[in-house]
Amino acid sequence: MLERHISRVAKCRIPYAKTDSERVQFSSSHESVAVTPVVVVMPGKHPARQTRTRIFWNRGWEKVPQIYSFAWLARLEASPIPRLTPPDGLRYVLVKVNPKTISYRPIQKISVIGLGKLGSCIAATFAERGFDVLGVDIDAEKVRRINDGLPPVEEPLLARTITAGRKRLRATQDHREAVATGLSFFIPPSSSLPDGSFTNEFLLRAMQPIAAAVREKGKRGHLFVCNSTTTPGAVDSVLKPMLEREIGGVCGRDFGLCYNPEFIALGNVVNGLLEPDMVLIGESDPASGAALEKVYKKFNRNKPYIARMSIVSAELAKISLNSYITMKISFTNQLRIIAERFPGTDIHAILDAIGSDSRIGRKYLRAGLSYGGPCFPRDNRLLAYSARQKGVEAPMAEASDRVNQLANVDLFQTVKAMVKPTDTVAVLGLSYKPDTYITEESAGLALAQQLKRAGYRVVVHDFGAKPENAPSVHEFEYLHDIAALRQGGDIKLAVICCPWPQYHKVKFATGIKVFSPWKL
Ligand SMILES: NC(=O)c1ccc[n+]([C@@H]2O[C@H](COP(=O)([O-])OP(=O)(O)OC[C@H]3O[C@@H](n4cnc5c(N)ncnc54)[C@H](O)[C@@H]3O)[C@@H](O)[C@H]2O)c1
Repeated sequence: MLERHISRVAKCRIPYAKTDSERVQFSSSHESVAVTPVVVVMPGKHPARQTRTRIFWNRGWEKVPQIYSFAWLARLEASPIPRLTPPDGLRYVLVKVNPKTISYRPIQKISVIGLGKLGSCIAATFAERGFDVLGVDIDAEKVRRINDGLPPVEEPLLARTITAGRKRLRATQDHREAVATGLSFFIPPSSSLPDGSFTNEFLLRAMQPIAAAVREKGKRGHLFVCNSTTTPGAVDSVLKPMLEREIGGVCGRDFGLCYNPEFIALGNVVNGLLEPDMVLIGESDPASGAALEKVYKKFNRNKPYIARMSIVSAELAKISLNSYITMKISFTNQLRIIAERFPGTDIHAILDAIGSDSRIGRKYLRAGLSYGGPCFPRDNRLLAYSARQKGVEAPMAEASDRVNQLANVDLFQTVKAMVKPTDTVAVLGLSYKPDTYITEESAGLALAQQLKRAGYRVVVHDFGAKPENAPSVHEFEYLHDIAALRQGGDIKLAVICCPWPQYHKVKFATGIKVFSPWKL
């Protein structure tokens, strides 16, 4: 009888954060439980799993408090014969106070963990849009610069955005301070491992101290949001268990977890964050996804499509989107290499025609060189890795990667055919795209390295990548003044590898051949 009653009562869920006090009515055929308890949940002072629950019994509205720990109630629930002793003279009622979901208060204070190329822009744009932002980084210099109102990385519009939100933006090296915010975005690096998967190490290190602080404070309802790219399945199988262990609670009940990657391009991060086409949210539970959606509705300047799904779906969606773009770029490279073997063809005209078909579209259908940077090549390979892990192949992703490498080899062969072994070649544009200094896996870097290895003298230039900010540049003679190309000197060929529009205006000495796969 008692057990039946318990299961009936257990259906009365008491939302935790929403209610300080709630009356629960029981109608039961079992006359002995015709009582009305008032349940007061007191979160905050104790570690989440020991949050105390006060049960007041109705005795003509005389309150008789009994305080039981959450853990004790949980044990009780599991026990077939409850050992709860009712106050004298009362039949007892067990009230389930273990809610299934979290309910969030409006989130105004956020923390951003990792203030690099992406994180610093997220912190600055959220502060500009009216949120109180705490930035956290292990790098003291980045923290100092943010606190001095200076950008910690080079990115257009970042300095101005930091200034606009300065009074709401502060940075620290102490992760534990983030517990005072409602939501933490995690954007540390997630470097690739040799097999194509991404490491979880940086995310684990960034999340662990905050989870420990959540436990210490007995906080419920902290929202952990992972922005760094992860290997599909890693959030649920690696990050979530660590958080549950450290917090001593259950994900989706005691804290929330979302995977929320950004689709930005370096050089346009600020506007890309504020006005995206889509916001992708992978959620541990609907309440956590809804809380993050609410934050974005306040943050975005436009009204992007908000795509909510399971965490693993979002992990797969993130890398698939980038993989699809790499497929488009590799298609243009494949076509360009074929078209070059047909005299009289104009690849730009061909792609322009193909891209005008609305089923295809013009974006990323521009003749040029291989794709590079920190995201496209790695995300595409990660998709192929994820497929292999599940025992299937991803031939399209693998082909994009192969064509991309072929495009680099093809460029080298083309350049070699244009010069003598003793000639000096200028490689112009070492960054992977305009408006950034990042040279990772760029076409220009690949060409300069191949030429140097083959014994050519190589001079390099870029409008963003310089010896001060791009270590790979040190390998080559750097041309500080692009105007020097007007004189010529030993340079016999200039190859434009990155479509910085400024190259269009450069005057070259008559002795220099200029080769540009890009239509500037
Ligand atoms: N840069 C991009 O274009 C881009 C685009 C989409 C996604 N992402 C993803 O965002 C993540 C970050 O990329 P990024 O380019 O900003 O990297 P980044 O290297 O520029 O910045 C990472 C920052 O994290 C800090 N950091 C490292 N460990 C930390 C810790 N334990 N606690 C706090 N801070 C820590 C570093 O000091 C650094 O400032 C990566 O996972 C990447 O996949 C980047």
